[in-house]
Parts: sequence; structure tokens; C-alpha cells
Amino acid sequence: MTHWIIANWKMQLSLPEAVRLARAVGRRHRGPPRLVLCPSFPALPAVGQALQGSSVWLGAQNCARLARGSLTGEVSPLDLRALGVRLVILGHSDRRALGETDGLIAEKVTAALRHRLVPVVCVGETLRERRLGRARSLVRSQVQLALSRLTNQQQRRVILTYEPVWAISPARPIAPSEAQRMARFIWDVTGWRQPLLYGGSVTPGNLRRFVDGVHFAGALVGKASLRLTPLLALLHA
Ligand code: PGA
Repeated sequence: MTHWIIANWKMQLSLPEAVRLARAVGRRHRGPPRLVLCPSFPALPAVGQALQGSSVWLGAQNCARLARGSLTGEVSPLDLRALGVRLVILGHSDRRALGETDGLIAEKVTAALRHRLVPVVCVGETLRERRLGRARSLVRSQVQLALSRLTNQQQRRVILTYEPVWAISPARPIAPSEAQRMARFIWDVTGWRQPLLYGGSVTPGNLRRFVDGVHFAGALVGKASLRLTPLLALLHA
């Protein structure tokens, strides 16, 4: 059963487009699955407003490692929480490509938890790393470092997402069995015991092949979450 659909809108929608889509899906969806819309920062207040009275959660795509500080251009987890944000994506490959390290991501995870945000921590290898045979060792260290500062109790409040970077659209998806093998590997080597989320070219047509309820309990979705019809189809897949 699919428990989570997390829509990562990246920087793809204008503010009016984001509000329109949020209003339309908020009116139609009661859940399950738990739907979380993650618009860009400037759209958070208006999308939050559009979701009032619905069961859809508001999410953010990143947060700072501190609640207050001299961090020009960063966004405080405390302020996100005050806006009604419930969940935050951390360590997305777009952020890692901009220079975010595992150490910084670990600090952000702690900050998010401190301010009662659910951290959705993304791990995954690039095509180059996969070709060099380093996919598993890299994913293992990403998971271990992201969780390194957390107690067991805190770890249970984290959602881990496996997103092979090379499979993020417009690339092609990984074979579901291969993604599930990586989930098993993560359990085996890190002691992680909960189902993960899968991300990377998920569509209404392939969602059920990834989300088997054992390895993966839901999906982080980019492109297929940007229009109402595929988004609703994902919720009913
Ligand atoms: P995609 O994006 O579904 O368009 O592959 C997923 C993501 O980057 O989170």
C-alpha cells in the first residue's frame, strides 16, 4: 500500500500555477496516501492557504542548519514550521550538486527534527559512481552520515528516500527490482528497519512496481506531480 506521495515541485511552477494546483488537489484528495506538496519557498504561504481545510500537508524543499543565524539566503526550519510546513526534503541531489555535504545534511536533519519537521532524507548515486562500482558504498555512507547524530527514537521520525540520481527524469527509471535490492542493502548494512521511499521518474504507470509496501512505502515525485491529472492518478494508482 502506498503511504506517502511527496510532490517535489522544485522551481517548476509559477506562484499562481502552484496555488491553482494545490487548491484543485486539496479539494479532491482525502487520503490515504498522505500527500505532501513541496512548492518553492516563495509559494509556501499561498499554497498553505490554498490547502487550509484539506488533508494535504505542506512541505519544503530544503532548510537551514540553524533556526537563527548569520546565514544569508537560507531559510530557518523554525520559520517553515510557523508557516505550517510539516515536512522538509533534505539532501536532494540538486542540493548535493550545489555543494551540500553529508555533514551539512546531518546538521539539517537535526535542525528539522528539533523544530518538529519530518526530514525526508535523499540518498542515491550518480551514473558515474554506479559505473565505477561505487553505488553501494556511497549510499551506505550517505545513510550512515545523515543519521549519525540521531538517537534511535529520532531515527524513527526520519523518512529515507532512495533516489538514484541518474534515474531522475528526464532520464529513465531504474528497474524496480534493482531499487528494492538497494533498499535491502541499506537495511543490511545500516540497521535501518523501516520501508523507504523511492524517487526517480515515478509515474502513475510504474508507481505500484516500486511501492510494494515492504521495501518502499511511497514515492518522491517530481515531473509527474506538476499537473493535476497525473498527480491524481498517482494518488489512485
Ligand atoms: P522526477 O524527480 O520524478 O521528475 O524524476 C524526482 C525528484 O527529483 O525528486
